[in-house]
Amino acid sequence: MPERYPALAALAPYLRCPVCSGRVRPGPGGSGPGGHGAEQVSCERGHGFDIARQGYVSLVGGRGGPGTGDSAEMVMARTRFLGGGHYQPVAAAVAGLAARLDPGGPGLALDLAGGTGYYLAAVLDALAPDRTGACVDLSAPALRRAARAHPRAAALGADAWRPLPLADGSAAVVLSVFGPRNAAEIRRVLVPGGGLVIAAPGPGHLAELRAALGLIGIDARKGERLAGAFGGFAPAGEAVVRYELRLGPADLTDLVAMGPNARHVGPADLAARVAALPAPFAVTVDVTVRGLSISQ
Ligand SMILES: C[S@@+](CC[C@H](N)C(=O)[O-])C[C@H]1O[C@@H](n2cnc3c(N)ncnc32)[C@H](O)[C@@H]1O
Ligand SMILES: [Zn+2]
Repeated sequence: MPERYPALAALAPYLRCPVCSGRVRPGPGGSGPGGHGAEQVSCERGHGFDIARQGYVSLVGGRGGPGTGDSAEMVMARTRFLGGGHYQPVAAAVAGLAARLDPGGPGLALDLAGGTGYYLAAVLDALAPDRTGACVDLSAPALRRAARAHPRAAALGADAWRPLPLADGSAAVVLSVFGPRNAAEIRRVLVPGGGLVIAAPGPGHLAELRAALGLIGIDARKGERLAGAFGGFAPAGEAVVRYELRLGPADLTDLVAMGPNARHVGPADLAARVAALPAPFAVTVDVTVRGLSISQ
């Protein structure tokens, strides 16, 4: 495994079995899907987990939480939209803050609900060249992308709402960009002195598009709720990333199709609504990137 999956090999020492919490190492187990020639990682008690052909490993244990991973269509839309560079200023702010908060020493750069690994790749480019990244997500199509997002990025299937299959103190930096986050688990997996970077939409985010298309809104109390959930952390920097995008119909369609609205608006309905908009259409990006650090 080390030659074929170097990032996964670097991640292995931090992994814990979702069934028994035991240490996990590369190699076949006595149970689990296996049996079709797939390479595996396994724990001391023989719980085995396949390494997917595309290079990610899924350690989802037991019954799932309330979350659902993004569909293949959502992931394709996200890949195209992010590939267009439209959120590059957000990635730059996340990477800048992550580099400032990285305490050095051992540990992963862990992107929780990291999707295609787009932000993790930008962060790894900004961190020391020996930092390994791990993109955690529930969506198999997203994990396939994330496994190829960066030479030092591994992709790990896990549920952000359940105990993470990672050892205590295994992350130097945690990223949470537009995704579900579980403060207690983030606290547990961070090293003492580790940093957390959260990117969340501000009140003006995509406001014109939401108004024009009648999309679901943004919870304006998000900032308040964050402060409560992350009570044990100290504020460590904040950047408000605000700019205007002028987008044509294809990008507008992807922007809606990659997000939670994709579950409420069908493709034909979306295409018709987007076609009725002026082109190009001006949209505000309004994202708050917050840094938090955990005490030593
Ligand atoms: C809005 S996307 C953000 C993805 C990425 N951070 C980005 O900004 O490009 C939310 C992501 O959370 C993932 N997700 C949803 N519920 C999850 C859960 N319970 N555990 C892990 N990932 C989850 C989805 O599959 C999706 O990739
Ligand atoms: Zn086990």
